[in-house]
Amino acid sequence: MKIAAVILAAGYGTRMQSELPKVMHPLVGRPMIEWAVRAAETVSNQPPVVVVGHGKELVQQHLGARASYAEQRELLGTGHAVLQAASLLRDNAGAVLVTYADMPLLTEATLSRFVELYRREQGDNLALAMLTVTRTDPQGFGRIVRDEDGKIVAIVEEADCTPEQRKIRELNPGIYCFDATWLWENLPNVPLSAKGEYYLTDLVAMAAAQGRRIVATEAPFEEVYGINNRIHLADATAVLRRRILERHMLAGVTIIDPATTYIEDTVVVGRDTTIWPGTMLHGETTIGRHCQIGPYSRIHSSHIGDGCRVLYSVLEEARLDRAAEIGPFGRLRKGAHLGEGVHMGNFGEVKDSYLGPGTKMGHFSYIGNAYVEGGVNIGAGTVTCNYDGVKKSKTVIGKNAFIGSDTMLVAPVSIGEGATTGAGAVVTHDVPPGAMVYGVPARPVTRAVADEE
Ligand code: UD1
Ligand code: CA
Repeated sequence: MKIAAVILAAGYGTRMQSELPKVMHPLVGRPMIEWAVRAAETVSNQPPVVVVGHGKELVQQHLGARASYAEQRELLGTGHAVLQAASLLRDNAGAVLVTYADMPLLTEATLSRFVELYRREQGDNLALAMLTVTRTDPQGFGRIVRDEDGKIVAIVEEADCTPEQRKIRELNPGIYCFDATWLWENLPNVPLSAKGEYYLTDLVAMAAAQGRRIVATEAPFEEVYGINNRIHLADATAVLRRRILERHMLAGVTIIDPATTYIEDTVVVGRDTTIWPGTMLHGETTIGRHCQIGPYSRIHSSHIGDGCRVLYSVLEEARLDRAAEIGPFGRLRKGAHLGEGVHMGNFGEVKDSYLGPGTKMGHFSYIGNAYVEGGVNIGAGTVTCNYDGVKKSKTVIGKNAFIGSDTMLVAPVSIGEGATTGAGAVVTHDVPPGAMVYGVPARPVTRAVADEE
Protein backbone atom coordinates (compact mmCIF):
# COMPACT_ATOMS: atom_id res chain seq x y z
CA MET A 1 0.00 0.00 0.00
CA LYS A 2 1.30 3.42 -0.92
CA ILE A 3 1.50 6.06 1.79
CA ALA A 4 1.54 9.73 0.87
CA ALA A 5 2.72 12.34 3.35
CA VAL A 6 1.12 15.75 3.76
CA ILE A 7 2.89 18.39 5.84
CA LEU A 8 0.94 21.46 6.90
CA ALA A 9 3.04 24.59 6.70
CA ALA A 10 0.76 27.38 5.55
CA GLY A 11 -0.01 29.07 8.86
CA TYR A 12 0.95 32.60 9.85
CA GLY A 13 2.83 31.54 12.96
CA THR A 14 1.58 34.76 14.55
CA ARG A 15 2.94 33.88 17.98
CA MET A 16 6.51 33.87 16.65
CA GLN A 17 6.27 37.68 16.22
CA SER A 18 8.50 37.41 13.18
CA GLU A 19 8.94 38.56 9.62
CA LEU A 20 10.22 35.10 8.78
CA PRO A 21 7.53 32.42 8.26
CA LYS A 22 7.45 30.18 11.34
CA VAL A 23 8.42 27.05 9.45
CA MET A 24 11.57 28.73 8.07
CA HIS A 25 13.04 29.49 11.50
CA PRO A 26 16.26 27.52 11.81
CA LEU A 27 16.88 24.86 14.41
CA VAL A 28 20.52 23.73 14.69
CA GLY A 29 21.20 24.51 11.05
CA ARG A 30 18.02 23.38 9.32
CA PRO A 31 14.77 25.30 8.92
CA MET A 32 11.87 23.85 10.91
CA ILE A 33 10.13 22.61 7.74
CA GLU A 34 13.12 20.51 6.83
CA TRP A 35 12.90 18.45 10.00
CA ALA A 36 9.32 17.58 9.08
CA VAL A 37 10.28 16.72 5.50
CA ARG A 38 13.15 14.50 6.61
CA ALA A 39 10.88 12.59 8.97
CA ALA A 40 8.26 12.14 6.23
CA GLU A 41 10.89 10.95 3.76
CA THR A 42 11.69 7.98 5.98
CA VAL A 43 8.18 6.57 5.82
CA SER A 44 7.01 7.46 2.34
CA ASN A 45 8.83 6.87 -0.91
CA GLN A 46 7.15 9.69 -2.75
CA PRO A 47 7.96 13.37 -2.12
CA PRO A 48 5.68 14.79 0.58
CA VAL A 49 3.02 17.31 -0.31
CA VAL A 50 3.77 20.49 1.62
CA VAL A 51 0.75 22.75 2.05
CA VAL A 52 2.09 26.28 1.70
CA GLY A 53 0.51 29.67 2.15
CA HIS A 54 2.10 32.38 4.26
CA GLY A 55 5.74 32.76 3.13
CA LYS A 56 5.35 30.10 0.45
CA GLU A 57 8.17 31.47 -1.75
CA LEU A 58 10.79 30.92 0.94
CA VAL A 59 9.55 27.42 1.71
CA GLN A 60 9.50 26.39 -1.95
CA GLN A 61 12.88 27.95 -2.57
CA HIS A 62 14.37 25.96 0.27
CA LEU A 63 12.80 22.56 -0.45
CA GLY A 64 12.77 22.73 -4.24
CA ALA A 65 12.01 19.39 -5.86
CA ARG A 66 12.14 17.47 -2.59
CA ALA A 67 8.44 18.18 -2.14
CA SER A 68 5.39 18.87 -4.18
CA TYR A 69 3.22 21.78 -3.18
CA ALA A 70 -0.43 22.53 -2.61
CA GLU A 71 -1.28 26.13 -2.02
CA GLN A 72 -3.76 27.20 0.62
CA ARG A 73 -4.80 30.66 -0.48
CA GLU A 74 -7.02 31.43 2.49
CA LEU A 75 -5.90 30.09 5.83
CA LEU A 76 -9.11 28.47 6.93
CA GLY A 77 -7.68 25.88 9.30
CA THR A 78 -5.89 22.54 9.30
CA GLY A 79 -8.82 20.60 7.75
CA HIS A 80 -9.04 23.09 4.90
CA ALA A 81 -5.24 22.86 4.51
CA VAL A 82 -5.30 19.07 3.97
CA LEU A 83 -8.16 19.47 1.49
CA GLN A 84 -5.84 21.52 -0.74
CA ALA A 85 -3.73 18.39 -1.26
CA ALA A 86 -6.72 16.32 -2.40
CA SER A 87 -6.35 16.85 -6.12
CA LEU A 88 -2.67 15.83 -5.97
CA LEU A 89 -3.30 12.68 -3.94
CA ARG A 90 -6.84 11.45 -4.49
CA ASP A 91 -5.98 8.47 -6.68
CA ASN A 92 -2.37 8.33 -5.77
CA ALA A 93 -2.08 6.58 -2.43
CA GLY A 94 -3.98 4.18 -0.18
CA ALA A 95 -3.10 6.03 3.00
CA VAL A 96 -2.32 9.63 3.87
CA LEU A 97 0.03 10.56 6.70
CA VAL A 98 -0.59 14.09 7.95
CA THR A 99 1.90 15.96 10.13
CA TYR A 100 2.36 19.60 11.13
CA ALA A 101 5.54 21.42 10.21
CA ASP A 102 5.99 22.81 13.71
CA MET A 103 6.95 19.49 15.39
CA PRO A 104 10.67 19.14 14.73
CA LEU A 105 11.45 16.76 17.60
CA LEU A 106 9.48 13.83 16.21
CA THR A 107 12.02 11.10 15.44
CA GLU A 108 12.13 8.89 12.41
CA ALA A 109 11.90 5.88 14.71
CA THR A 110 8.62 7.01 16.26
CA LEU A 111 7.12 7.89 12.90
CA SER A 112 8.16 4.52 11.43
CA ARG A 113 6.64 2.65 14.35
CA PHE A 114 3.45 4.66 13.91
CA VAL A 115 3.20 3.89 10.20
CA GLU A 116 3.82 0.21 10.98
CA LEU A 117 0.85 0.32 13.35
CA TYR A 118 -1.29 1.72 10.55
CA ARG A 119 -0.14 -1.00 8.16
CA ARG A 120 -1.02 -3.72 10.68
CA GLU A 121 -4.43 -2.28 11.43
CA GLN A 122 -5.49 -1.09 7.97
CA GLY A 123 -8.76 -2.29 6.38
CA ASP A 124 -11.41 -3.76 8.64
CA ASN A 125 -13.33 -0.47 8.88
CA LEU A 126 -10.30 1.55 10.00
CA ALA A 127 -10.66 5.29 9.37
CA LEU A 128 -7.45 6.49 10.93
CA ALA A 129 -4.54 5.86 13.25
CA MET A 130 -3.22 8.63 15.44
CA LEU A 131 -0.60 9.33 18.04
CA THR A 132 -1.53 10.62 21.46
CA VAL A 133 0.61 11.99 24.26
CA THR A 134 0.13 12.25 27.97
CA ARG A 135 1.85 15.05 29.80
CA THR A 136 1.23 17.71 32.40
CA ASP A 137 2.05 20.75 30.24
CA PRO A 138 -0.77 20.80 27.66
CA GLN A 139 0.96 23.47 25.45
CA GLY A 140 -2.43 24.41 24.00
CA PHE A 141 -2.87 20.97 22.43
CA GLY A 142 -6.29 19.53 21.60
CA ARG A 143 -7.68 17.17 24.27
CA ILE A 144 -8.43 13.51 23.51
CA VAL A 145 -11.95 12.62 24.64
CA ARG A 146 -12.72 8.94 25.28
CA ASP A 147 -16.02 7.22 26.13
CA GLU A 148 -16.64 4.89 29.11
CA ASP A 149 -15.16 2.00 27.14
CA GLY A 150 -11.97 3.95 26.54
CA LYS A 151 -12.69 4.48 22.87
CA ILE A 152 -11.58 7.78 21.35
CA VAL A 153 -14.66 9.77 20.39
CA ALA A 154 -13.35 13.28 19.72
CA ILE A 155 -10.52 15.78 19.82
CA VAL A 156 -11.55 19.07 21.36
CA GLU A 157 -9.42 22.16 20.77
CA GLU A 158 -8.35 23.93 23.95
CA ALA A 159 -10.41 27.02 23.14
CA ASP A 160 -13.55 24.91 22.81
CA CYS A 161 -13.03 22.78 25.92
CA THR A 162 -15.46 22.61 28.80
CA PRO A 163 -13.73 23.14 32.18
CA GLU A 164 -13.81 19.36 32.66
CA GLN A 165 -12.25 18.66 29.26
CA ARG A 166 -9.52 21.21 29.91
CA LYS A 167 -8.24 18.98 32.68
CA ILE A 168 -7.66 16.05 30.33
CA ARG A 169 -3.95 15.35 30.03
CA GLU A 170 -4.15 12.99 27.06
CA LEU A 171 -3.38 15.31 24.18
CA ASN A 172 -3.31 15.43 20.40
CA PRO A 173 0.20 15.80 18.95
CA GLY A 174 -1.26 16.16 15.46
CA ILE A 175 0.15 13.11 13.70
CA TYR A 176 -2.40 11.03 11.83
CA CYS A 177 -2.54 8.36 9.18
CA PHE A 178 -5.85 8.19 7.30
CA ASP A 179 -7.41 5.65 5.03
CA ALA A 180 -7.29 7.72 1.83
CA THR A 181 -10.74 6.83 0.55
CA TRP A 182 -12.34 7.67 3.86
CA LEU A 183 -10.36 10.91 4.20
CA TRP A 184 -11.24 12.36 0.79
CA GLU A 185 -14.88 11.38 1.23
CA ASN A 186 -15.26 13.01 4.64
CA LEU A 187 -12.89 15.96 4.65
CA PRO A 188 -15.22 18.23 2.64
CA ASN A 189 -17.90 17.69 5.31
CA VAL A 190 -15.91 19.00 8.26
CA PRO A 191 -18.07 21.69 9.89
CA LEU A 192 -16.98 25.28 10.33
CA SER A 193 -15.82 25.83 13.93
CA ALA A 194 -16.84 28.70 16.18
CA LYS A 195 -13.44 30.22 15.41
CA GLY A 196 -14.26 30.23 11.69
CA GLU A 197 -11.86 27.43 10.80
CA TYR A 198 -12.19 23.89 9.47
CA TYR A 199 -10.44 21.72 12.05
CA LEU A 200 -8.76 18.56 10.81
CA THR A 201 -9.28 17.25 14.32
CA ASP A 202 -13.06 17.18 13.81
CA LEU A 203 -12.57 14.15 11.56
CA VAL A 204 -12.07 12.08 14.70
CA ALA A 205 -15.56 12.76 16.02
CA MET A 206 -16.94 12.13 12.52
CA ALA A 207 -15.22 8.72 12.30
CA ALA A 208 -16.41 7.78 15.77
CA ALA A 209 -20.01 8.80 14.97
CA GLN A 210 -19.90 6.62 11.83
CA GLY A 211 -18.74 3.65 13.91
CA ARG A 212 -15.42 3.57 12.04
CA ARG A 213 -12.36 2.27 13.82
CA ILE A 214 -9.73 4.67 15.26
CA VAL A 215 -6.48 3.25 16.62
CA ALA A 216 -4.07 5.23 18.73
CA THR A 217 -0.69 4.76 20.32
CA GLU A 218 1.34 6.89 22.73
CA ALA A 219 4.19 9.02 21.43
CA PRO A 220 7.21 9.72 23.65
CA PHE A 221 6.27 13.04 25.23
CA GLU A 222 9.63 14.69 24.57
CA GLU A 223 9.18 14.18 20.81
CA VAL A 224 5.86 15.90 20.33
CA TYR A 225 6.73 19.42 21.20
CA GLY A 226 4.87 21.99 19.10
CA ILE A 227 6.61 25.25 18.29
CA ASN A 228 4.30 28.22 18.53
CA ASN A 229 6.59 30.90 20.01
CA ARG A 230 10.30 31.56 20.50
CA ILE A 231 10.39 30.00 23.94
CA HIS A 232 9.31 26.73 22.34
CA LEU A 233 11.92 27.32 19.63
CA ALA A 234 14.70 27.60 22.21
CA ASP A 235 13.43 24.52 24.09
CA ALA A 236 13.37 22.44 20.91
CA THR A 237 16.79 23.70 19.88
CA ALA A 238 18.19 22.55 23.22
CA VAL A 239 16.80 19.04 22.68
CA LEU A 240 18.07 18.78 19.09
CA ARG A 241 21.46 20.19 20.08
CA ARG A 242 21.87 17.53 22.75
CA ARG A 243 20.79 14.77 20.33
CA ILE A 244 23.41 15.89 17.80
CA LEU A 245 26.15 16.02 20.43
CA GLU A 246 25.24 12.53 21.63
CA ARG A 247 25.36 11.22 18.07
CA HIS A 248 28.92 12.56 17.72
CA MET A 249 30.02 11.27 21.13
CA LEU A 250 28.72 7.78 20.36
CA ALA A 251 30.61 7.92 17.05
CA GLY A 252 33.93 8.65 18.76
CA VAL A 253 34.17 12.41 19.19
CA THR A 254 35.22 13.75 22.60
CA ILE A 255 33.12 16.72 23.62
CA ILE A 256 34.62 18.18 26.77
CA ASP A 257 31.63 20.34 27.69
CA PRO A 258 28.34 19.60 25.88
CA ALA A 259 26.67 22.52 27.68
CA THR A 260 28.76 25.08 25.79
CA THR A 261 29.18 23.25 22.49
CA TYR A 262 26.91 23.94 19.52
CA ILE A 263 27.14 21.70 16.47
CA GLU A 264 24.64 22.07 13.67
CA ASP A 265 23.00 19.01 12.20
CA THR A 266 24.79 19.52 8.88
CA VAL A 267 28.31 19.19 10.36
CA VAL A 268 30.52 16.09 10.04
CA VAL A 269 33.21 15.34 12.65
CA GLY A 270 35.79 12.53 12.46
CA ARG A 271 36.71 10.02 15.15
CA ASP A 272 39.10 10.87 17.96
CA THR A 273 38.68 14.57 17.45
CA THR A 274 38.29 16.60 20.63
CA ILE A 275 35.94 19.56 20.79
CA TRP A 276 36.81 21.97 23.59
CA PRO A 277 34.29 24.23 25.38
CA GLY A 278 32.68 27.25 23.76
CA THR A 279 32.91 25.89 20.22
CA MET A 280 30.31 26.45 17.51
CA LEU A 281 30.34 24.46 14.29
CA HIS A 282 27.99 25.66 11.58
CA GLY A 283 26.75 24.90 8.08
CA GLU A 284 28.48 22.48 5.74
CA THR A 285 31.54 22.12 7.95
CA THR A 286 33.55 18.90 7.88
CA ILE A 287 36.23 18.12 10.45
CA GLY A 288 38.69 15.26 10.12
CA ARG A 289 40.05 12.80 12.65
CA HIS A 290 42.41 13.53 15.53
CA CYS A 291 41.77 17.28 15.51
CA GLN A 292 41.75 19.62 18.50
CA ILE A 293 38.97 22.15 17.96
CA GLY A 294 38.50 25.04 20.38
CA PRO A 295 38.17 26.19 23.02
CA TYR A 296 36.12 29.20 21.96
CA SER A 297 36.14 28.83 18.21
CA ARG A 298 33.47 29.39 15.58
CA ILE A 299 33.75 27.49 12.33
CA HIS A 300 31.31 28.06 9.50
CA SER A 301 31.11 25.94 6.32
CA SER A 302 34.80 25.02 6.38
CA HIS A 303 36.79 21.87 5.72
CA ILE A 304 39.34 20.83 8.30
CA GLY A 305 41.67 17.92 7.52
CA ASP A 306 42.99 15.28 9.93
CA GLY A 307 45.18 16.27 12.84
CA CYS A 308 44.46 20.00 12.69
CA ARG A 309 44.31 22.40 15.61
CA VAL A 310 42.00 25.41 15.87
CA LEU A 311 42.42 27.47 19.01
CA TYR A 312 40.28 30.53 19.89
CA SER A 313 39.69 31.26 16.22
CA VAL A 314 36.97 32.21 13.73
CA LEU A 315 36.78 30.42 10.37
CA GLU A 316 34.35 30.97 7.53
CA GLU A 317 34.33 29.08 4.23
CA ALA A 318 37.95 28.15 4.76
CA ARG A 319 40.02 25.01 4.35
CA LEU A 320 42.79 23.47 6.43
CA ASP A 321 44.80 20.58 5.05
CA ARG A 322 46.25 17.87 7.27
CA ALA A 323 48.03 19.00 10.45
CA ALA A 324 47.52 22.72 9.82
CA GLU A 325 47.05 24.88 12.87
CA ILE A 326 45.60 28.26 13.66
CA GLY A 327 45.39 30.42 16.74
CA PRO A 328 45.07 31.57 19.31
CA PHE A 329 43.00 34.43 17.85
CA GLY A 330 43.25 33.72 14.14
CA ARG A 331 40.69 34.56 11.52
CA LEU A 332 40.14 32.80 8.22
CA ARG A 333 37.69 34.39 5.85
CA LYS A 334 36.10 33.09 2.68
CA GLY A 335 38.52 31.27 0.40
CA ALA A 336 41.38 30.95 2.89
CA HIS A 337 43.23 27.68 2.39
CA LEU A 338 46.04 26.59 4.69
CA GLY A 339 48.10 23.76 3.19
CA GLU A 340 49.48 20.77 5.04
CA GLY A 341 51.29 21.63 8.24
CA VAL A 342 50.84 25.38 7.89
CA HIS A 343 51.26 27.20 11.17
CA MET A 344 49.30 30.38 11.69
CA GLY A 345 49.76 31.98 15.08
CA ASN A 346 48.06 34.80 16.91
CA PHE A 347 46.14 37.71 15.38
CA GLY A 348 46.49 36.66 11.75
CA GLU A 349 43.85 37.11 9.06
CA VAL A 350 43.76 35.28 5.75
CA LYS A 351 41.20 35.81 3.01
CA ASP A 352 40.92 34.32 -0.46
CA SER A 353 44.48 33.02 -0.33
CA TYR A 354 46.44 29.80 -0.38
CA LEU A 355 49.34 29.20 1.98
CA GLY A 356 51.44 26.26 0.79
CA PRO A 357 52.65 23.33 2.91
CA GLY A 358 54.83 24.20 5.86
CA THR A 359 54.43 27.96 5.53
CA LYS A 360 54.67 29.80 8.83
CA MET A 361 52.88 32.97 9.76
CA GLY A 362 53.37 33.43 13.45
CA HIS A 363 52.11 36.86 14.36
CA PHE A 364 49.55 39.51 13.35
CA SER A 365 49.64 39.49 9.56
CA TYR A 366 47.02 40.07 6.86
CA ILE A 367 47.16 37.97 3.73
CA GLY A 368 44.48 38.62 1.09
CA ASN A 369 44.23 37.59 -2.58
CA ALA A 370 47.59 35.84 -2.35
CA TYR A 371 49.14 32.63 -3.57
CA VAL A 372 51.93 31.57 -1.25
CA GLU A 373 53.98 28.51 -2.07
CA GLY A 374 55.37 26.07 0.48
CA GLY A 375 57.99 26.72 3.13
CA VAL A 376 57.56 30.47 3.22
CA ASN A 377 58.22 32.42 6.39
CA ILE A 378 55.86 35.35 6.79
CA GLY A 379 57.31 37.75 9.35
CA ALA A 380 55.32 39.48 12.07
CA GLY A 381 53.11 42.28 10.82
CA THR A 382 53.34 41.45 7.11
CA VAL A 383 50.49 42.91 5.06
CA THR A 384 49.40 42.23 1.51
CA CYS A 385 48.18 45.65 0.39
CA ASN A 386 45.67 44.07 -1.94
CA TYR A 387 43.19 46.93 -2.36
CA ASP A 388 43.97 50.25 -3.96
CA GLY A 389 40.54 51.70 -3.28
CA VAL A 390 39.14 50.50 -6.60
CA LYS A 391 40.22 46.94 -7.27
CA LYS A 392 41.74 43.94 -5.54
CA SER A 393 45.13 42.75 -6.80
CA LYS A 394 47.08 39.59 -6.32
CA THR A 395 50.28 38.78 -4.47
CA VAL A 396 52.38 35.72 -5.34
CA ILE A 397 55.15 34.47 -3.06
CA GLY A 398 57.53 31.75 -4.28
CA LYS A 399 58.76 28.71 -2.42
CA ASN A 400 60.93 29.15 0.66
CA ALA A 401 60.84 32.95 0.44
CA PHE A 402 61.56 34.89 3.62
CA ILE A 403 59.27 37.87 4.20
CA GLY A 404 60.80 40.12 6.84
CA SER A 405 58.78 41.56 9.69
CA ASP A 406 56.45 44.40 8.81
CA THR A 407 56.81 43.99 5.04
CA MET A 408 54.14 45.74 2.97
CA LEU A 409 53.50 43.83 -0.26
CA VAL A 410 51.85 46.36 -2.56
CA ALA A 411 49.87 44.24 -5.00
CA PRO A 412 50.01 43.29 -7.79
CA VAL A 413 53.44 42.02 -6.87
CA SER A 414 55.37 38.77 -6.84
CA ILE A 415 58.26 37.59 -4.72
CA GLY A 416 60.48 34.99 -6.37
CA GLU A 417 61.46 31.63 -4.96
CA GLY A 418 63.94 31.93 -2.11
CA ALA A 419 63.85 35.75 -2.16
CA THR A 420 64.10 37.82 1.00
CA THR A 421 62.50 41.13 2.02
CA GLY A 422 64.03 43.19 4.78
CA ALA A 423 62.14 44.28 7.87
CA GLY A 424 59.87 47.21 7.12
CA ALA A 425 60.22 46.89 3.32
CA VAL A 426 57.48 48.41 1.19
CA VAL A 427 57.60 46.19 -1.91
CA THR A 428 56.16 47.89 -4.99
CA HIS A 429 57.99 45.93 -7.72
CA ASP A 430 58.40 42.21 -8.41
CA VAL A 431 61.36 40.61 -6.67
CA PRO A 432 63.37 38.05 -8.70
CA PRO A 433 64.10 34.57 -7.31
CA GLY A 434 66.89 34.56 -4.73
CA ALA A 435 67.08 38.39 -4.54
CA MET A 436 66.96 40.47 -1.41
CA VAL A 437 65.13 43.80 -1.22
CA TYR A 438 64.84 46.32 1.58
CA GLY A 439 63.70 49.86 2.31
CA VAL A 440 60.86 52.18 1.32
CA PRO A 441 60.16 51.71 -1.52
CA ALA A 442 62.06 48.45 -1.54
CA ARG A 443 65.06 48.10 -3.84
CA PRO A 444 67.53 45.29 -4.36
CA VAL A 445 70.55 44.99 -2.13
CA THR A 446 73.48 46.13 -4.34
CA ARG A 447 77.01 44.76 -4.23
CA ALA A 448 78.17 48.00 -2.48
CA VAL A 449 75.65 47.69 0.31
CA ALA A 450 76.36 44.02 0.67
CA ASP A 451 80.10 44.78 0.87
CA GLU A 452 79.63 47.40 3.59
CA GLU A 453 78.08 44.73 5.79
C1 UD1 B 1 -3.08 21.93 16.18
C2 UD1 B 1 -4.24 20.96 16.43
C3 UD1 B 1 -4.28 20.55 17.88
C4 UD1 B 1 -2.94 19.91 18.24
C5 UD1 B 1 -1.79 20.83 17.91
C6 UD1 B 1 -0.50 20.08 18.06
C7 UD1 B 1 -6.04 21.50 14.84
C8 UD1 B 1 -7.32 22.19 14.66
N1 UD1 B 1 -5.50 21.58 16.05
O1 UD1 B 1 -3.29 23.10 16.92
O2 UD1 B 1 -5.32 19.64 18.14
O3 UD1 B 1 -2.94 19.57 19.59
O4 UD1 B 1 -1.85 21.29 16.55
O5 UD1 B 1 0.57 20.88 17.69
O6 UD1 B 1 -5.54 20.88 13.92
N2 UD1 B 1 -1.75 25.32 9.19
C9 UD1 B 1 -2.01 25.42 7.85
N3 UD1 B 1 -3.15 26.08 7.45
C10 UD1 B 1 -4.04 26.60 8.32
C11 UD1 B 1 -3.77 26.48 9.71
C12 UD1 B 1 -2.62 25.82 10.11
O7 UD1 B 1 -1.23 24.97 7.01
O8 UD1 B 1 -5.03 27.16 7.88
C13 UD1 B 1 -0.52 24.62 9.61
C14 UD1 B 1 0.43 25.50 10.40
O9 UD1 B 1 1.39 26.09 9.52
C15 UD1 B 1 1.09 24.53 11.36
C16 UD1 B 1 0.07 23.43 11.54
O10 UD1 B 1 -0.86 23.57 10.48
O11 UD1 B 1 2.27 23.96 10.83
C17 UD1 B 1 -0.65 23.53 12.88
O12 UD1 B 1 -1.26 24.79 13.01
P1 UD1 B 1 -1.30 25.55 14.39
O13 UD1 B 1 -2.02 26.83 14.19
O14 UD1 B 1 0.04 25.59 15.00
O15 UD1 B 1 -2.25 24.56 15.21
P2 UD1 B 1 -2.37 24.44 16.79
O16 UD1 B 1 -3.17 25.57 17.32
O17 UD1 B 1 -1.04 24.23 17.37
CA1 CA C 1 1.14 24.34 16.62
